[in-house]
Amino acid sequence: MNLAGKTAIVTGASRGLGPYIAKTLAEKGVKIVAMARDIEGLEKTKSEIQLSGQKCNIVSIDLTKINKLENLIKNIWDDFGPIDLLINNAGIENYQHFDHLSKDAISNIISTNLRAPLELTRCILPKMINQKSGHIINISSLAGKKGVAYNSVYSASKAGLLMWSDALRQEYKNSPIDISVICPGFISEAGMFFDGNVDAPKILGTSSPQKVANAVIKALKKGSCEIIVNAGPIRPLLALGQISWKLADKITRLFGVPALSRKRISV
Ligand SMILES: NC(=O)c1ccc[n+]([C@@H]2O[C@H](COP(=O)([O-])OP(=O)(O)OC[C@H]3O[C@@H](n4cnc5c(N)ncnc54)[C@H](OP(=O)(O)O)[C@@H]3O)[C@@H](O)[C@H]2O)c1
Repeated sequence: MNLAGKTAIVTGASRGLGPYIAKTLAEKGVKIVAMARDIEGLEKTKSEIQLSGQKCNIVSIDLTKINKLENLIKNIWDDFGPIDLLINNAGIENYQHFDHLSKDAISNIISTNLRAPLELTRCILPKMINQKSGHIINISSLAGKKGVAYNSVYSASKAGLLMWSDALRQEYKNSPIDISVICPGFISEAGMFFDGNVDAPKILGTSSPQKVANAVIKALKKGSCEIIVNAGPIRPLLALGQISWKLADKITRLFGVPALSRKRISV
C-alpha cells in the first residue's frame, strides 16, 4: 500500500505514543492532522515532523467534548481535505479502587477512550465510504483482553474499544474500509506506563513505543487486522483465560500484575 500523499488524523499526538505514530506515518509521506489538548506538545510534534520535510497540522481539542466532534470533523475536512486514515490513539487511565472513583472520573475515561473514537468514526466513516477508501485504527490495550485490577474502568473502555473494532471489522468486511485494532502491553521509554515510574513484571517485559508505531504501519499494509504488541508471546495465555478465568486470574497474580497496579494508585 502506498501511503504517500494520504492524510491521517492521529489523536493523542501531544506526548507518549502518539508522536511516534505521527512521525512514523509522516516518514512514509502521510500528511498528519495531530490532535490533543496541549498545544505545546502538538507544536513539538509538528516541528519534528516538519524538520523531516513532512506536513503536519495541529488541532487542539478536548475529546471528551463529544458534542463538538461532528463539527470538528466537518471543519477538518473543509480545511485539510479528505481524511484517509483515522488513528484513535488518545487515552487516559486512572489507578484507583473502583469505589473511590467519582462519577466524573469514570465519565472522563469512558469519553476519552471509547465515546470519542466511536463519535470520530461515526462522523468520518460515511465520508470514507463515499470516497471508497479509508482505514480506522484503534489503539486498545492488553488491559482490554484481561481485566486489570485497580484500573477497571480503563479495562472496560479498552475491552469496549476492542469488541467494537471486532464487530466493525466484520460489518465492513465487504466494503473499501479497513478497521484494525492494536493491543499494546507495557511500553517503555514514553507514555502512560513509562510515566508511572514502575518496573514491569520481568516475565511480561516491555516493548518500545516505536513497536506500536510499526504495528500501525503493519496494519495499514495488511488491511483489517488485530495486532498485539508485547515483549513475548501472550496469545496462549489469553486463550487459556477463555477456558479458565480462575487459572488466568492466578497466573496474572503470579506475574504480579495486580500488585503492580496497586502501587500505581494515587492517594
Ligand atoms: N503506554 C502504554 O504502556 C500503553 C499500553 C497499552 C495501551 N496504551 C494506549 O496507547 C494510547 C496512547 O497512550 P500513551 O501511553 O501515549 O498515553 P499518554 O502518554 O498519557 O498520552 C495520552 C495522549 O492522549 C491525549 N489525551 C488525553 N486526554 C485527552 C482529551 N480529553 N482530549 C484530547 N486528547 C487527550 C493526551 O494529550 P493532551 O493531554 O495534550 O490532551 C496525550 O497526547 C492510549 O490509548 C493508551 O491507552 C498505552
